[in-house]
Amino acid sequence: MKIVLSLVVAGVTLFGADGYSVYKKQCMQCHVEMIGKQDALKNLKTLKAPPMVEVSNRLKENIIIKEADDDAMKRRVVTAFIKDYIENPDFDYSMCHLGALDRFGVMPSLKGKLTDEERQAVAEWVYDRYSGVTFK
Ligand code: HEC
Repeated sequence: MKIVLSLVVAGVTLFGADGYSVYKKQCMQCHVEMIGKQDALKNLKTLKAPPMVEVSNRLKENIIIKEADDDAMKRRVVTAFIKDYIENPDFDYSMCHLGALDRFGVMPSLKGKLTDEERQAVAEWVYDRYSGVTFK
């Protein structure tokens, strides 16, 4: 078991950053990983940002690829958006509900806090973690 675990850890360091670890270190203090809509509303006062499940689903809803079946293209465009947003958050580019922007304000830039690889990994994690998961 230990050997398997060290192999996994070695694999992660060899082949790039692990998105979930990056999330826990850099995003979790603001974006909760998973919560139902009712609980989110109930706990609105303690939330600092939209839950990550909501962020992921909204981007997938809003970013439309004309080739409807091209999931790989969609994943690429959505992750590129997230990757950029981490360094360049902007009121005009945010796809959050106006109500959420009003409540939370615009995300502060994390420029300089993540490597390019970490931004890529966490963006893919945000996309993949909630595939097929709805916020309700
Ligand atoms: C200090 C708090 C804070 C941290 C840390 C933070 N965010 Fe945010 N984030 C916000 C807030 C507030 C919003 C909502 C307003 C907005 O869209 O800018 C937001 C919005 C976003 C959006 C935009 C969603 C949209 O619909 O346009 C993405 C993508 C995002 N965050 C990803 C991340 C990722 C990935 C990380 C970690 C690498 C992270 N955030 C870390 C506060 C934070």
